[in-house]
Amino acid sequence: GHDFAVIEAIAAKAKEENLGLIPILQRTQETIGYLPKEALRTLAELLHVPYSKVFGVATFYAQFHLTPRGRHIIQQCDGTACHVKGGPRIRRVIEEALGIPPGETTSDLKATYEIVYCLGSCGLAPAAMVDGKVVGRLTQDKMKRILASME
Ligand code: FES
Repeated sequence: GHDFAVIEAIAAKAKEENLGLIPILQRTQETIGYLPKEALRTLAELLHVPYSKVFGVATFYAQFHLTPRGRHIIQQCDGTACHVKGGPRIRRVIEEALGIPPGETTSDLKATYEIVYCLGSCGLAPAAMVDGKVVGRLTQDKMKRILASME
């Protein structure tokens, strides 16, 4: 399981600083990489907060992840502009290369694939965000090259 001591330290520090649940979850995620249910349960106990509340907050906000994330994050846009300009063709390339549908992470934790709805870069449609960087005017070949260059 996950290191109880690590979570205990986060909870102790949070109590000292009188932190709210959201910053505590942020710290936990920064430290562990994601929020395993076991960690949420431990936090609930240590903070004397009902588990249902901790779980509710962790699942409500998109910034929190209850499963491990890949080393690379591919957020492919399927907003209207990107969809019309060939988003679905880009999706096929990603699904084929990674072997997973959107919302999943490869078993080797190489990449997490997500669909998003508008990156604010409609002029570059079809677009995606790869590791925090917008890549636009995607073609199937361009997307294949990006995926192939990932370590
Ligand atoms: Fe894709 Fe706006 S719809 S960037």
